[in-house]
Amino acid sequence: MISENELWILSFYRVSEISGALFFGRLARSMRPGRIQEDMTKHFADEAVHAWYWTDCIQRLGATPLKLDVAYQDQYLTTAGMPVNMMEILAITQVFERRVMYQYKRHSQVPGMHPVACQTIARIMRDERWHIKWIREALKEMEAEYGKDRIDATLKRYMQADLEVYRQTMAEHAERVEHLVQSNSRRV
Ligand SMILES: [Fe+2]
Ligand SMILES: [Fe+2]
Repeated sequence: MISENELWILSFYRVSEISGALFFGRLARSMRPGRIQEDMTKHFADEAVHAWYWTDCIQRLGATPLKLDVAYQDQYLTTAGMPVNMMEILAITQVFERRVMYQYKRHSQVPGMHPVACQTIARIMRDERWHIKWIREALKEMEAEYGKDRIDATLKRYMQADLEVYRQTMAEHAERVEHLVQSNSRRV
């Protein structure tokens, strides 16, 4: 069985993956044919599968996912503003994916994690690495059209928005993960 705190965190991941899938799915649906359309569709499908992995993981740990109303992704567009072209869409996605990677990395360092949760995080992180990679490459290719400086400035603007959203919506997640680190360190 998992603690109430762990259940909240894993449920939070599940909801975040669902929000990600919906966000990228909407983007994939609206894209013109081409490489970005293809990669964005795979990306969307990955996030949907991740939501299933967490659902399955929670159930295998003997619990049921909580219904949470935190939607990290939704806050992004409100704070950062609606992206106006493909470069901005990819830039906001890149910043967002790095944040996800950071969360999972931090959590994977928690001592005494349940093996089922460990395997789930490891499996998801493999895909998340590809998400960051394909977007970085696509942004690199866009330098000819938009200019490197403009792309860098856009990434910087979204990183600032990310920090703001992180402070507003992730405080509870961060606190709970820290709590887990401390209580598990005492146990191990
Ligand atoms: Fe994911
Ligand atoms: Fe991702």
